[in-house]
Amino acid sequence: MHAAPRVRRLRAERPWQEHRRFYVDLFADPGVLAAVWPRVTSRKQAEADALQLLAADVRHWQRRSFGPWVFFESASGLFVGRGGLRATALAGRPCVELLYAVRPDRWGRGYATEMSALAITRARELGFSEVVGLAAVSNRASRRVLEKTGMRFDSDTIERAGLAHWVGRWRAIV
Ligand SMILES: CC(C)(COP(=O)(O)OP(=O)(O)OC[C@H]1O[C@@H](n2cnc3c(N)ncnc32)[C@H](O)[C@@H]1OP(=O)(O)O)[C@@H](O)C(=O)NCCC(=O)NCCS
Repeated sequence: MHAAPRVRRLRAERPWQEHRRFYVDLFADPGVLAAVWPRVTSRKQAEADALQLLAADVRHWQRRSFGPWVFFESASGLFVGRGGLRATALAGRPCVELLYAVRPDRWGRGYATEMSALAITRARELGFSEVVGLAAVSNRASRRVLEKTGMRFDSDTIERAGLAHWVGRWRAIV
C-alpha cells in the first residue's frame, strides 16, 4: 500500500468506505452536480451515483497502484474534494485521466491546481507518457486548471455526459 502523499496545503488519502459521507456531500452539491453529472436532477440519484463512484475508486486502487485521492486541508482537517488519476478510455483508446472536484465553499483557492500538480508528479513517478484532462466547454475554471497543469488542447472537442468537452494532454518529456 502506498503511503499517503503530502502536499503543501492539502493532505491526500486513498479513498475508503469511511469516506462515503464526503463523496455524497461533494457530488450531491448542486454546484458540483451541475458540472459533473448535468443530467442527474435528483439528490437521491446523485447520492447513489456518488457511492458508486466511491466503490469504483476503491476498486481502482485495489487493481492499480494509483487512483483518485480524497483531500483534506492540512491546517483544518476539512474535507475539500477528490482528485487524481484514473485509468479509463477515450474514443476507445486506453488512457490515464486527470480528475478533480472541489467543494464550492473552497473554490478559487488554487486547490484543484494543487491536486492536479500532485497527480502529475505521481504520473511521472509511475512512468506514464501521457495524462489527459477533460473540461466541459462551458467550464472555464476547469479548462484553466488543465492549462495551469501544463496541458495542451486538441483542436476538436469530444462529447461526454451530453456536453462538448475540451481534451487537454500532458506529455512527459522523454
Ligand atoms: C473546476 C474546479 C475543480 C476548480 O477548482 P478550484 O480549486 O476553484 O480551482 P483553482 O483555484 O485551482 O483554479 C481555478 C482557475 O480558474 C479560474 N477561473 C475560475 N472561474 C473562471 C471563469 N468563470 N472563467 C475563467 N477562469 C476562471 C481561476 O481564476 C483560476 O485561475 P488563476 O489561478 O489563473 O486565477 C471547481 O470549480 C469544481 O470543483 N467544479 C465542479 C466540479 C468540476 O467542474 N470538475 C471538473 C469536471 S470537467
